[in-house]
Amino acid sequence: MSESFVLVETRGRVGLLTLNRPKALNALNDQLMDELGAALLAFEANPDIGAVVITGSEKAFAAGADIGAMKDWSYMDVYGNEYITRNWETLKRIRKPVIAAVAGYALGGGCELAMMCDIIIAADTAKFGQPEIKLGVIPGAGGTQRLPRAVGKAKAMDLALTARMMGAEEAERAGLVSRVVAADKLMEEAMDAATIIASMSLPSVMMAKECVNRAFEGSLNEGLLFERRVFHSLFATEDQKEGMAAFTEKRKPDFKHR
Ligand code: CAA
Repeated sequence: MSESFVLVETRGRVGLLTLNRPKALNALNDQLMDELGAALLAFEANPDIGAVVITGSEKAFAAGADIGAMKDWSYMDVYGNEYITRNWETLKRIRKPVIAAVAGYALGGGCELAMMCDIIIAADTAKFGQPEIKLGVIPGAGGTQRLPRAVGKAKAMDLALTARMMGAEEAERAGLVSRVVAADKLMEEAMDAATIIASMSLPSVMMAKECVNRAFEGSLNEGLLFERRVFHSLFATEDQKEGMAAFTEKRKPDFKHR
């Protein structure tokens, strides 16, 4: 049997996925992406999981798509067979929150994978970049679209055109990552955040995620209307009654849907 490139664990209501191709700095080949997609879909379908964390190694979250695997591919391999990109969009289909816990390199497809997650928590060792330009290509898994939305045009252009890496502090200042922590605290911080999210009412968590994503996908007016309708619909859930009753009764909520 071939080696598994994604380690799958559950800790309480959190699903933990560890990219496990350390010798290649977690370079993302089709096997790894297939395994990642399958594991994400399994967590999505598992009612005992409320949030997911994706992490890599101390040295690399992921150093990009696998250059050795793709170097000889033709246009029809990548377009016709959708090599490299075929499983990348799976992450977009996951409605439960996904946190990227990033230490070391998150380059090219690795940076793009982190950006597809809902929250990026970075170790102070993290380095983000889109160095594809050095290979004679461009980012192919959303980098030219998600990076400017996260950090603005100026910095996105800088990173995509010069291939320079951005450290964790700069990434936090620029709005790419939500928190920077010491490397030895990374997993604790990410798992704590995921555990908190997984303790909330799942319908409201999924709807909050959907609404925040809308802010990046359409106009302000459409987003506001969408949010209002979703907000109204949550009044049909038992958890809204429980959450608000618990607040007024000064006790902890006991959510039914988690
Ligand atoms: N693909 C395949 N193998 C990779 C890789 C990648 N993206 N990144 C690193 N590796 C491999 C190296 O080939 C090397 O393997 P060997 O030991 O067998 O030679 C091993 O991982 C360790 O790498 P280095 O010896 O280079 O380690 P380093 O510490 O000197 O440098 C690095 C680290 C700066 C991250 C360097 O490895 C590097 O520049 N990697 C490539 C980064 C890159 O260009 N990523 C973009 C890929 S294209 C892409 O992602 C397209 C897309 O948008 C979908």
